[in-house]
Amino acid sequence: MRVIVEPTADAATRRAAAFLARQLAKKPDSVLGLATGGTVVGIYQELIRLHREQGLDFSQTTSFNLDEYVGLPTTHEQSYRRFMQQHLFDHVNIPAERTHVPDGLATDFETSCARYEWEIGQAGGIDLQLLGIGRDGHIAFNEPGSSLGSRTRLKTLARETIRDNARFFGSEEAVPRLAVTMGVGTILDSRRCLLVAVGDSKAEAVAATVEGPVTAQVTASALQLHRDVVVILDEASAAQLRRKDYYAEVEEAQTLLESGQLAALGIASS
Ligand code: GLP
Repeated sequence: MRVIVEPTADAATRRAAAFLARQLAKKPDSVLGLATGGTVVGIYQELIRLHREQGLDFSQTTSFNLDEYVGLPTTHEQSYRRFMQQHLFDHVNIPAERTHVPDGLATDFETSCARYEWEIGQAGGIDLQLLGIGRDGHIAFNEPGSSLGSRTRLKTLARETIRDNARFFGSEEAVPRLAVTMGVGTILDSRRCLLVAVGDSKAEAVAATVEGPVTAQVTASALQLHRDVVVILDEASAAQLRRKDYYAEVEEAQTLLESGQLAALGIASS
């Protein structure tokens, strides 16, 4: 796990957007796994800016979103399809037919979830999966207790999540009780994962994810089993990490390696 701590939330957001932009520059037909939530809004704003000002191209990109509430029409202000249209898709040149969000209005969820998994496979799998984190340590809507091998399926939202998301709906009663979500296993199949967290309300979940045991009680901790995970934090969300100094040293060595300053790392020149 590569842990990058930026001084502010803004800097963390820009760094995360730069990762996504680099992925698209390297592989324009990338399959991106996308997320919703307050944390990613700034990342999408930066991507839109890069699209407008620097020609960041989404014309060959395919996307799969992590999750969707059950029972909300796609036009509902809080549906994740609407969120994606509003915060990203309507402002960049991604072809509409290549954007995928799980179907929260399905009548047969077993079939529609299996189809979502199949579509991800047909697209060649996810190259880079963007992730936020819930205060209870969930990724997507994989609430505590979710199987670490789980696939796309229906999930009951935890009370803590309903309480957290009530701010968007006006009241707890208005928050859907169920969601369709990629599973932890689906997420672990992505080639690379990018987890972003900002703010002190995420500090405990971040520490448990990065430095705690791998446990279904903190589904983000399953990322420790993935071979290519980048975690981007601000100082506030990193506050409870015990090995912050070490992560900074790793970043410093990485920068020296990338800029060819090998002697500073004790690597003999050939
Ligand atoms: C929801 C989403 C998650 C997201 C989380 C955090 O639960 N299903 O994918 O990571 O919210 O959201 P925020 O960034 O608003 O804290």
